[in-house]
Amino acid sequence: MKGLLPFVSALFLFIIPTGLQAAALRVCANPDNLPFSHDGTPPTGLYVDIADGLAKRLGMSVEYVWQGDYSQKGISFALQNDHCDVYFGLPRVSEWGQSYMRLSKPFLRESYALVVPKGQHVKRLADLRGERVAVQFRTPAQNLLATRDDLTTVTYSTPKEAMEGLAKGEADDAFIWGPSAGYYNKVLLHNAYRVIPTRGRGLDWPVALGVREEEAGLYRAINGALPKMKPLIARVAQAYGLPQGTPLLITTPSAAALPRPSKSASSAPTQPPAAMPLVLLAEAAQADAASGPTTNDHSAPASATDANLVEEGRVIFNSNCSHCHGPNAVAGDPYMDLPALLREQGPDMDSFFYHTVTNGIPSVGMPTWGPVLSHEQMRKMLAFLHAAQNKRFGIGNSTGDTTTPTSTK
Ligand code: HEC
Repeated sequence: MKGLLPFVSALFLFIIPTGLQAAALRVCANPDNLPFSHDGTPPTGLYVDIADGLAKRLGMSVEYVWQGDYSQKGISFALQNDHCDVYFGLPRVSEWGQSYMRLSKPFLRESYALVVPKGQHVKRLADLRGERVAVQFRTPAQNLLATRDDLTTVTYSTPKEAMEGLAKGEADDAFIWGPSAGYYNKVLLHNAYRVIPTRGRGLDWPVALGVREEEAGLYRAINGALPKMKPLIARVAQAYGLPQGTPLLITTPSAAALPRPSKSASSAPTQPPAAMPLVLLAEAAQADAASGPTTNDHSAPASATDANLVEEGRVIFNSNCSHCHGPNAVAGDPYMDLPALLREQGPDMDSFFYHTVTNGIPSVGMPTWGPVLSHEQMRKMLAFLHAAQNKRFGIGNSTGDTTTPTSTK
């Protein structure tokens, strides 16, 4: 945006500064799924607050298109028939990538959560030994606990019922969808419990917006706006009781212990994920990689100083990635500029890199490299990218929270 445009658009509000065609951002959201969204008057929910903030940033108004169907079929139908521009709250994982939409940058991380009485010490599942744990029917959490014989499970059909069961004394703890657990703990149970977010295979994933494929300009505008909305998003997440704090890593006995639901699984993770496709998360990618010929060393920064490694990484990068991400990782297009993009991941950079490169992002045209490149080759490229970051942003400054120079507050 340059010259007169900002001035002109301030005078004539119907001129959208980013050149988008519609003045209203049409948002598909679930009519009855608090804490996420609810079609009240006015509409409420975490996603509603975020959508309102996003539209404001884009100089647009919001129109809600209430869509209870979060199955891939429902999403495809709504987006392909132009019922809305964006679908709120989709997992940003390759299983959800589709040709009819682009997945935005993630704006939240959602996970299952352990709900325990306040003051109870929990560092691993074994700490719940002998207790009755409320779970929701047909969820990864239920599957995971089914493999243990040191505790019993009490099964409910919704997270709300599980929380009510907890309050009635039918169970001691719960292992359920975190956002719902936090919300009902807050609005029904006066925060009587501690809600601990978790991470682990199939238990957590980044959440994004699905943007209609045709809306390339809107997609870029949204990706530009989301990083600047971090403070708002954090505030809203807290207001709706979303689990806060460091996630507890839950390790699974083996991948085989978890059934892998079919791709046609028809429920969306935000409502909640009864049969969500299992997500190959960073942890899982690490676990998989560890079984290969290389070591489990994913903390490349130390090796990034190794000039040979960096040089080998540069060569591998230039022969596989440079035609999209630029020779030597210098890209003209900011959406392809890996040193800058990866920097936004802060301390999660390495795991994000392995996850993204292994699985690709089919919805946006980033290929899946898992079957093509070895872990060792990825590790070398990561070393090269760390070195490129250090060169560009200053040594020792490649991670941390000073992510974007443009993010003011
Ligand atoms: C055919 C073009 C293409 C090739 C080749 C390609 N990428 Fe990508 N890559 C993309 C696109 C498109 C995106 C998504 C950019 C966006 O988020 O808008 C992307 C995104 C990424 C991201 C995530 C960036 C972020 O923070 O959003 C990483 C990491 C990445 N690519 C690494 C690689 C590596 C490493 C290679 C080589 C092994 C590679 N890519 C090859 C097209 C490509």
